[in-house]
Amino acid sequence: MNAEVVIAGPRPLRGTVRVPGDKGISHRALLVAALASGRSTIRGLADGDDVHRARLALERLCVRINFLESAEDAGGAVIVQSTGVGGLRESDSVIDCGNSGTTMRTLAGLLAGRPFLSVLTGDASLLSRPMGRVVRPLRGLGALVDGRADGELAPLVIRGGDLTGRRCELDVATAQVKTALVLAGLQANGTTEVVEPAPSRDHTERMLAALGAPVTRVDDRTTRVERGAPDPFELDVPGDPSSAALFAVAASITPGSAIVIEHVCLNPRRLGFVDVLRQMGARILAEQTEERLGEPVGRLVVEASGLAGTAIAPEEGMIDEIPVLAVAAAFADGVTEIRGIAELRVKESDRINTIQQELTQMGVDVEAQRDSLTIRGGAPRPTMFKSHGDHRIALAAAVAANAMPGESTVRGWQSVAVSYPGFAEDLAALAGENGS
Ligand code: S3P
Repeated sequence: MNAEVVIAGPRPLRGTVRVPGDKGISHRALLVAALASGRSTIRGLADGDDVHRARLALERLCVRINFLESAEDAGGAVIVQSTGVGGLRESDSVIDCGNSGTTMRTLAGLLAGRPFLSVLTGDASLLSRPMGRVVRPLRGLGALVDGRADGELAPLVIRGGDLTGRRCELDVATAQVKTALVLAGLQANGTTEVVEPAPSRDHTERMLAALGAPVTRVDDRTTRVERGAPDPFELDVPGDPSSAALFAVAASITPGSAIVIEHVCLNPRRLGFVDVLRQMGARILAEQTEERLGEPVGRLVVEASGLAGTAIAPEEGMIDEIPVLAVAAAFADGVTEIRGIAELRVKESDRINTIQQELTQMGVDVEAQRDSLTIRGGAPRPTMFKSHGDHRIALAAAVAANAMPGESTVRGWQSVAVSYPGFAEDLAALAGENGS
């Protein structure tokens, strides 16, 4: 992976693209396959480092995972052979979750019910992210979980065991913690109920319910879990809406573009960005073509159009897309206000700060407050961007670079390896470069 990419815009985008499998669904598919007794087949698994970490972690816990290459499957398939949660064994060393908050938090939930010791660590960014939000409720179910700063920070040490279901009221809406509690709840005696202050993405609930596990959604903020296990399954992971958002913004802001993004997960809790872009004047059509393990799947059709500033309220279903929506705002006429985004401060970088720095770099006027951003759109100019070690900042910068007349560089490009290693190539292919 190159340490930097250079993009000379504007490059109108045309044609069809298929984005990598959804990162969140890929994580869940691996964990759920480990809980299911038998053989599960997963195609189109996200190929970034985050999901790779989850796979390595499960292998350390003695789940058998193999790649199957075949003539029909270009990307091959991952076969997970498990004897159910009881077949997991103590890892003989520390489990390194890399840059992946989803791997660390969801795995903590799975391991909270296992009667052995697990130690989870990660890179410098992950070691600074909040873990108390998952440690406290898991302790409430009866697991022994500790970490630095009394469990606020990783490395985490987990000695799992007998869990007792209970009602867990979360302080923040987070699908990672909800998923951790659902995975623990499936191993607990009695009923576990997870209540969030606002709805978060519901991939875990959809997948487990589709596979016959005792998980039900009581309302859009409450999930109920009984002791039980899912059936093994076959899944072709739908494309990641957060990656699709990159192309949707790129096509909207680059004149002359008209693209189709195929096989995308159209879960309504992930499509907040489509509503926001439409509100700004974007021309985007979403068409469902099928359903996979409870998830609607289909295509997005996007054409370039002038955008206008808007107000983005604390929206359910939108978090990872904010960096690229900030780029859309930078190219829009007028002011965009993005409110209720305090969670962005504890992502792979402090994204309120890093978005402000990178937009300012291209001459856009941005004000950052504790939990909001105000962006005055204008005529951004090419520049030298920095990723700040954050994949979503690097990817959003490349989208901006593609639309501007002149040459821009994105430094620290290697950070995109965690979610979309092939983005620069896919973008170039839509721009008619690389011989495609
Ligand atoms: C994820 C949930 C979100 C998101 C992350 C993946 C998931 O985090 O930012 O990239 O797969 O559950 P939070 O649940 O902490 O908001």
